[in-house]
Amino acid sequence: MQKRTFLQTVATVGLLGASGLALAQDNVFKIGLILPMTGQQATTGRQVEAGVRLWMAQNGDTVAGKKVQLIVKDDGSVPANTRRLAQELVVNDKVNVLAGMGITPSALAVAPIATQSKTPLIVMAAATSSITEASPYIVRSSFTLPQVSVALADWAPKNGIKNVVTLVSDYGPGLDAEKFFKERFQFDGGKVSESLRVPLMNPDFAPFLQKVRDAKPDALFVFVPSGAGAALMKQFAERGMDKAGIRLIGTGDVTDDDLLNDMGDTALGVVTSHHYSVDHNSPANKKFLEAFMKANKNLRPNFMAVGGYDGTRLVYEALKKTAGKGGGDALMAAMKGQIFESPRGPVFIDAQTRDIVQNVYLRKVEKKNGQLYNVEFDVIKDVKDPGKAKQ
Ligand code: PHB
Repeated sequence: MQKRTFLQTVATVGLLGASGLALAQDNVFKIGLILPMTGQQATTGRQVEAGVRLWMAQNGDTVAGKKVQLIVKDDGSVPANTRRLAQELVVNDKVNVLAGMGITPSALAVAPIATQSKTPLIVMAAATSSITEASPYIVRSSFTLPQVSVALADWAPKNGIKNVVTLVSDYGPGLDAEKFFKERFQFDGGKVSESLRVPLMNPDFAPFLQKVRDAKPDALFVFVPSGAGAALMKQFAERGMDKAGIRLIGTGDVTDDDLLNDMGDTALGVVTSHHYSVDHNSPANKKFLEAFMKANKNLRPNFMAVGGYDGTRLVYEALKKTAGKGGGDALMAAMKGQIFESPRGPVFIDAQTRDIVQNVYLRKVEKKNGQLYNVEFDVIKDVKDPGKAKQ
């Protein structure tokens, strides 16, 4: 009798222990955040992670009764690493969502894993138009290159720029920027005399800039990924391009807020189009900027940080809407159609494309109180990704 009671007790405790553990697991919601924390794109990783952590710090780590756990992995911008890490996060860690994706090839490498495992993938940085079509489980909180390139193509011919050479990083977002800028600029009566492409990794801009000098266009249109703008700006000045009367224009990736102050006065007057500037004049941005800088030793946020911040918001809201009970499909449904005020301005997630619809601003680099800013001077409202509209 005594023995049986003892065994029963052991069994009961064992069961309780196991179910207690299961309960603990059930009550955790895991976000697997994969970013380039090292290498050429490390500034992107640092910014996106800081944006994610700020949202979590401001909104708590318990949502709909679940404890939100963030797991950060460094892929060094090597797509094979991104894929392996995503696989491990899904299979071993059983993450509820995947997020991050510093460059397009990383996002594309993870897309099949998102599809097979029905795990939502929140693309917070990468910006080639076609990414959202690679999996029905992808939703994007960053932007697309077609979305921001077209506005500049409309602005240029009205502002004395008739002849342009384009220079882009030779991969997805660069090719999108080149195509959509060129098509619209030519439609508006402009001429693109040459289209140059530079390698993504360790680019030496010098030989390309020499070609631009020889071609003497009114302006050079550029796309380089966040982090590479300072090197380009430096070589642009060293080659005396501005003195030769060649203006620099581009998507806002080149005058990235994170690095802008280090570029010095060469950057003054550069006109870009993009979806976020730290100088954006709204109460939501003022609050975001202040909190971000306070939490990150005065680091200036850039558009990557906003992609991380807003992407985390999408997850939190979806978790709330599904009362913490849904799987991947329910979370995806709850992310579609979300509409809110971002530090960048009003945004919404197009339910059909799962891409972000947002304002695109024309900006000019100016000095205020000794610091360089992308000062917004015009806005095109509620811009959908034109890359999708074409299909
Ligand atoms: C991308 O690889 O999709 C990418 C990276 C950095 C940018 C924009 C696009 O600034």
